[in-house]
Amino acid sequence: MNTKPLIAANWKMHGNAALAHALAQFTAQKAASLGNAAPEVVLCPPALLIPIVKESLTAAEGRHVGLGGQDCSPHAEGAFTGDISAAMLKDAGCEYVILGHSERRAGHGETSAQVAEKMKTAISSGLTPILCVGETLDQREAGGAEKAVERQLRESLAGLSGEQAAGSVVAYEPVWAIGSGLTPNAADIGAMHAHLAGVLKELAGAPPRVLYGGSVKASNAREILAISGVSGALVGGASLKAEEFGAILSACA
Ligand code: PGA
Repeated sequence: MNTKPLIAANWKMHGNAALAHALAQFTAQKAASLGNAAPEVVLCPPALLIPIVKESLTAAEGRHVGLGGQDCSPHAEGAFTGDISAAMLKDAGCEYVILGHSERRAGHGETSAQVAEKMKTAISSGLTPILCVGETLDQREAGGAEKAVERQLRESLAGLSGEQAAGSVVAYEPVWAIGSGLTPNAADIGAMHAHLAGVLKELAGAPPRVLYGGSVKASNAREILAISGVSGALVGGASLKAEEFGAILSACA
């Protein structure tokens, strides 16, 4: 298993060609400047910007920075207007794909059963899924956070072999922490990661990497990354600001 922290940038529906180029160039240079202390870095731009980011990363010739998509179709190909297949992401140079993000679960009605289908297609296309799971504020306040997240995890990994589950990446992202500036305290993050590690050990044998996501920024990255069981971060808003993102990468060193 890769022991380097993994920092994945989820740009969501932000950016344009100029920003994509600038951020990719900055990230490659920043990762190179950190040398062996650099984490594994993955940029997940909107699909249209993937070729621009790829070209900029290649031209920058810095340390390897990976690319990921933000979603993919559960289908290999066909009459699915507007969708993007896992094979297309792979062909465009992606190594990863974010799946089951809460914005897709909430805004597009994605169920864990659909996410499980996407997981299978992504893996068979040679991509590593970053599977997002997380509780709502209501679930946390009712004391049901661990149960809710465990259920999402089990349902989203259904149908994968232990080896496939172990080779995936999981991101614990409390829905109420995303884009809100709020984060759970370190004890709560640690407790959820310990709980998920137990479930993943049962499902996958060798547990996959589990990231934390939700309002990670320069000022809290070091503390969050030091929590036992946290193998990296999925970063939204702060990944669009070069200085903030650079500081998060430095916090891994
Ligand atoms: P945020 O988003 O860092 O802006 O909270 C994280 C995510 O949605 O992956």
